[in-house]
Amino acid sequence: GKITLTMIKPTAVKEHHVGDILAHIEHAGFKIIGLKMTQMPKEKAMVFYEVHKDKFFFDELVNFMKSGPVVVAILEKENAVKDFRELIGSTDPAEAEEGTIRKLFAKDKTHNAIHGSDSDENAVKEAWFFFSEMDQFRY
Ligand code: GTP
Ligand code: MG
Repeated sequence: GKITLTMIKPTAVKEHHVGDILAHIEHAGFKIIGLKMTQMPKEKAMVFYEVHKDKFFFDELVNFMKSGPVVVAILEKENAVKDFRELIGSTDPAEAEEGTIRKLFAKDKTHNAIHGSDSDENAVKEAWFFFSEMDQFRY
């Protein structure tokens, strides 16, 4: 697994943490091979988090994720998915380890600053969900 997909979520963007979060990511050895700011319409947020459609938190999750711009990136590194999930920390920032991105920048379980893919297969799927071929780089 050489890539993962991340999204800096609306609250972290509104609070001006984009630069700090990208610095953490690059300093941890991830190479940014795709990057953009975008805002998901409700429909797109629903598709992105489709696996959670039957969960009690789905509406809150979708309404939050469409509420403002996000910064999306494709990241390259050996063991990208696993290493990135370690870098961001637990879903609930109250349980996130010291020094993790969620410990540093998340508010609560919904407003948890950042997304990371949960498998190699989903990383590739999510990269194509946001980036066309000409916006995915190899360098
Ligand atoms: P993502 O990287 O955003 O996918 O988070 P994750 O992989 O750590 O968690 P998961 O995929 O299980 O859940 C997706 C998102 O749903 C999380 O980031 C949370 O914002 C939200 N979520 C998950 N579980 C709960 C919960 O128990 N309560 C609430 N309010 N939100 C939850
Ligand atoms: Mg997830």
